Amino acid sequence: MDGTVIEEKASPYERIGGAEGVRRLVDAFYDTMERNPAYAELRAMHEPDLGPTRDSLTGFLSVWLGGPRKWIEKRGGFCIMSRHAKMNVTGATAGQWMAAMRDALAEVGVEPELAEKMDGALSQLAEAMAWRGKAG
Ligand code: HEM
Repeated sequence: MDGTVIEEKASPYERIGGAEGVRRLVDAFYDTMERNPAYAELRAMHEPDLGPTRDSLTGFLSVWLGGPRKWIEKRGGFCIMSRHAKMNVTGATAGQWMAAMRDALAEVGVEPELAEKMDGALSQLAEAMAWRGKAG
């Protein structure tokens, strides 16, 4: 059979620098969200203390990038779409989320090929959250 073969290179988790690399990206993401007035609407949706959210996004992205599955196993049955379903994500706040993530990817210097792939996949997620927000 002549199927498509997915190349098994280093995982995105390894390429981004493992646990430390993911944490650097997440910190850059929430730091820019806190600092940049363009993301004020998105920031206001979050708890005043972003500490626990920083830990969660680090855990989630580690699994999503092919790293250790500890975080998601502890959160049994965690679904990222369901978690956001009642947050009334709009096109505007989804756009702010992606813009902040792009800032963070650039700031920590994620290699361009990986940054582009993450941008594409995360954009689809963010877009789907905005549809869900509209659907109620
Ligand atoms: C599209 C726009 C998005 C908005 C407006 C948004 C907003 C939020 C808000 C308000 C929270 C609650 C955290 C708090 O209160 O501090 C949250 C949690 C979270 N978000 Fe998002 N989010 C978006 C997209 C995403 C995407 C694309 C991902 C994953 C790639 C993601 C991953 C997470 C995770 C892991 C948590 C923590 C959940 C938990 O620990 O229960 N978010 N988000």
